[in-house]
Amino acid sequence: MINIQKITTDTCWIGASDRRLAKFENIFPLSGGVSYNSYIIADEKTAVLDTADVTIAEQYVENLAAALKGRSLDYLIILHMEPDHCSQIARVASLYPGLTLVGNVKTFQMLGNFFPELSGLPRITVKEGDTLSLGAHTIKFTMAPMVHWPEVMLAYDMLTGALFTADAFGTFGSLDGSIFADQCDFEARYLNEARRYYANIVGKYGVQVQNVLKKLKTLDVRFICPLHGPVWREDLDWFIDKYQKWSTQTPEDDGIVVIYGSLYGHTASAAETAAAMIAEKSGKQVRVYDASKTDASELIGEIWRVKKVVIFSPTYNNGVYLPIANLLHDLAALDVKNRIFAIGQNGSWAPTAAKGMTEILGTLKNCTVLENVVTIKSALHEADLPMLEAFAQAVAEA
Ligand code: FEO
Repeated sequence: MINIQKITTDTCWIGASDRRLAKFENIFPLSGGVSYNSYIIADEKTAVLDTADVTIAEQYVENLAAALKGRSLDYLIILHMEPDHCSQIARVASLYPGLTLVGNVKTFQMLGNFFPELSGLPRITVKEGDTLSLGAHTIKFTMAPMVHWPEVMLAYDMLTGALFTADAFGTFGSLDGSIFADQCDFEARYLNEARRYYANIVGKYGVQVQNVLKKLKTLDVRFICPLHGPVWREDLDWFIDKYQKWSTQTPEDDGIVVIYGSLYGHTASAAETAAAMIAEKSGKQVRVYDASKTDASELIGEIWRVKKVVIFSPTYNNGVYLPIANLLHDLAALDVKNRIFAIGQNGSWAPTAAKGMTEILGTLKNCTVLENVVTIKSALHEADLPMLEAFAQAVAEA
């Protein structure tokens, strides 16, 4: 069934949502689905900006044909070559002979890797500041390398003020009815998912995102059109401010996150008791997560939100319990910065989890690990409570 949505009189969204995919990139759980956005500008010349994932291919080509209304497709502008957006390039090329591909040098290197059979297609290679005229619309290109792949570029429509941002400003979550952020209660429906998407997919590349935000300030942007999630046409500054915070790893609020791993509940009990004491002593909102139940990508999204993170781990194989170790290695891989960590450990005969956690956390830039470490032996006892009180006080005051 055709589903096309107008952004301006001649610019349309022609993407679709996948509500069946279990894991994005086969890693990140998708409880609320995901959308793959593609856009068309139907001027004197017709241009599509990116294709879509193979899982929505049938809907996509149907939408594209309907949007073209029998016209030919002149340009396919490729902003990003990751397969969730490039999978239909060969199919679109076969459906619309005469198509010219538009990309940069790196785009076409990747195109050759994914689709060597397309090497003979007409192409226009663009670089920073180059323009492409479609008639009334002129598209200006700006490079956005490593947001989050090297070939990524943005396209700015000088007529409408639409900025096509590739994965930047994207979010997990299907599009439900309206494609516009101002019509979908973004804060309630998408904000956590947008943060999770940013932190896990783009989070490592904050400097590169900062470069994009600087370029954005030089443009009169009236629409932000990402490759995933809602299109922005109101309150753009609100979302840009989120990106400013996320890309500089500036905490959004003063809440505290407590994360624990626990085999039989004893480490959980210590973490829950510590969380209650921290809430009471700090007066801040505390959220508690079991690392074996909550996916690491959600924990990373939460760590991106707050300044203080408390982590409790049992000792396991003379080291850190696997779900916690996995989370810590992910934090290091994503280059997490500017956080205060407090840690607790459990060990029935030789507690070593804190040592292992400190070693990994010690590699993070501009992060502090509080010296006050909680150690329990097997289970939490009344005699441990003064130690937990002191720990909670240190977290509250940090
Ligand atoms: Fe949505 Fe980097 O692909």
